[in-house]
Amino acid sequence: MSLKYLLTALAASQLAFADDSCGDTTIENQSDADGINSCTTLKGDLTIKKTYSGDLSLSGIEEITGGIISSGAANVSSITAPTLTSIGNKFDLEGLTTLTLLSFPKLTSVGSINWEALPKLQSLNFDTGVTKAGDVSISNTGLTDLNGIQLKTVGTFSIQNNRDLKTININNLQNATDLISFSGNYDTLEIDLPNLGTGTNMTFQNISSVSVPSLEKLTGQLGFWGTKFETFSAPNLTQTGDLVFKDNSKLSNISMPNLKTVNGGFTIARDDKLSTISLSSLETVKGAIDFSGTFDKISLGKLKDVEGSFNMQSTHGNFSCDSFKQLKSEDVIKGSFKCEADTKSPTTANGKSGTSSSSSSSSSSTSSGAAFMTGANVPVVGLAAIFGALAQLL
Ligand SMILES: *[C@@H]1O[C@H](CO)[C@@H](O)[C@H](O)[C@H]1NC(C)=O
Ligand SMILES: *[C@@H]1O[C@H](CO)[C@@H](O)[C@H](O)[C@H]1NC(C)=O
Ligand SMILES: *[C@@H]1O[C@H](CO)[C@@H](O)[C@H](O)[C@H]1NC(C)=O
Ligand SMILES: *[C@@H]1O[C@H](CO)[C@@H](O)[C@H](O)[C@H]1NC(C)=O
Ligand SMILES: *[C@@H]1O[C@H](CO)[C@@H](O)[C@H](O)[C@H]1NC(C)=O
Ligand SMILES: *[C@@H]1O[C@H](CO)[C@@H](O)[C@H](O)[C@H]1NC(C)=O
Ligand SMILES: *[C@@H]1O[C@H](CO)[C@@H](O)[C@H](O)[C@H]1NC(C)=O
Ligand SMILES: *[C@@H]1O[C@H](CO)[C@@H](O)[C@H](O)[C@H]1NC(C)=O
Repeated sequence: MSLKYLLTALAASQLAFADDSCGDTTIENQSDADGINSCTTLKGDLTIKKTYSGDLSLSGIEEITGGIISSGAANVSSITAPTLTSIGNKFDLEGLTTLTLLSFPKLTSVGSINWEALPKLQSLNFDTGVTKAGDVSISNTGLTDLNGIQLKTVGTFSIQNNRDLKTININNLQNATDLISFSGNYDTLEIDLPNLGTGTNMTFQNISSVSVPSLEKLTGQLGFWGTKFETFSAPNLTQTGDLVFKDNSKLSNISMPNLKTVNGGFTIARDDKLSTISLSSLETVKGAIDFSGTFDKISLGKLKDVEGSFNMQSTHGNFSCDSFKQLKSEDVIKGSFKCEADTKSPTTANGKSGTSSSSSSSSSSTSSGAAFMTGANVPVVGLAAIFGALAQLL
């Protein structure tokens, strides 16, 4: 083997090594970050160490194939990435308790977002806007809105315990392929999903309004717990899985004029202001109907098939069970049947109180299980190993 060949091989290996410096990188100060600013593409994860302090600027990098990961870096005050357009894997920030600025003006695509405990972060400087993300989980941040998150599609979308969050408007979102859930945010949170047409499960807790004018079909559960709105309107909704309204203290009007099919159970409990329930198109309930409360009038004009049991109990003197007894006798209601009007303590099918004046409130089991794929760790071949290989050739 000629020396010339060996030198060429050596040069090539050094080039490979130079490339490796654009692989998995851990940084603990700005000069570490400056060391990768010639990497247009970072082929791996960028990890920000706990001990990083102050501002971080990631200039020059346009793409990170892995993730941006930082946990417990309590002294990072800002992260700025002026040229970054995409993060292939996870964008995980946890416990960056003094972070006030996230500036990613060109970012459009992220594998997944998981932000947890960023109490000083109030807004996002995502000028172009993230339109593509897998699972998104945002909890315990100081964000007042989610402007800059402009998803067209999303997997799990979980927004929990952001006590300053006032509005969420995701104009672009048309199709949600996994659980969408909101809970423990401030009670004044207003949610607008103007173009969402289809989804799987959607659960709402502790919000003050929700607008879903285009929603047509859910394959899973639609549930509301402890909300503060007066009217729920889903003008285009034709079909859902389980449908739940519990502990919504101000709810007086449920408007779903086109709802035809509930592919699950339908529960209404402890919504003390609800007096009239009118679902003029409802034909089929695959599970049980379980309504308890203070309502006066219920009209389910087209009901043809209730496959589960039927429990209806109201405190109201003017509420009448007659039409439902008829439905039972006509075998529209297939399961067990119980209907009580003018009862002092209405209960749900499982024996819990149907009004909030009595105790025992239940809440949903909100699962916030955002699962993230872990980045493939590309093995790094060190220079020493390459020299070792060369030595063997000699
Ligand atoms: C930055 O951190 C690296 C270790 O990651 C260290 O070697 C270097 O001295 C630090 N530079 C400065 C300017 O603190
Ligand atoms: C943040 O800075 C404070 C004050 O300098 C220091 O005591 C603390 O250990 C730092 N935290 C981390 C995670 O490095
Ligand atoms: C929504 O997304 C799912 C999964 O990608 C797809 O199967 C479904 O057809 C989409 N629905 C609409 C209405 O785009
Ligand atoms: C509601 O559905 C109708 C009929 O499919 C459609 O024309 C209309 O645009 C929908 N409304 C919204 C707000 O999506
Ligand atoms: C989705 O809804 C179905 C019922 O419609 C329920 O059985 C399931 O547990 C829900 N999944 C999640 C993750 O909430
Ligand atoms: C959210 O609503 C539930 C009732 O469903 C209530 O128990 C809980 O205290 C509320 N949480 C907040 C943070 O308001
Ligand atoms: C209930 O809300 C719907 C939709 O906002 C509205 O059209 C209807 O008039 C309301 N009904 C009552 C009784 O307020
Ligand atoms: C029951 O209906 C009657 C006649 O419509 C009405 O006068 C009365 O106030 C109603 N009772 C309640 C408790 O709403």
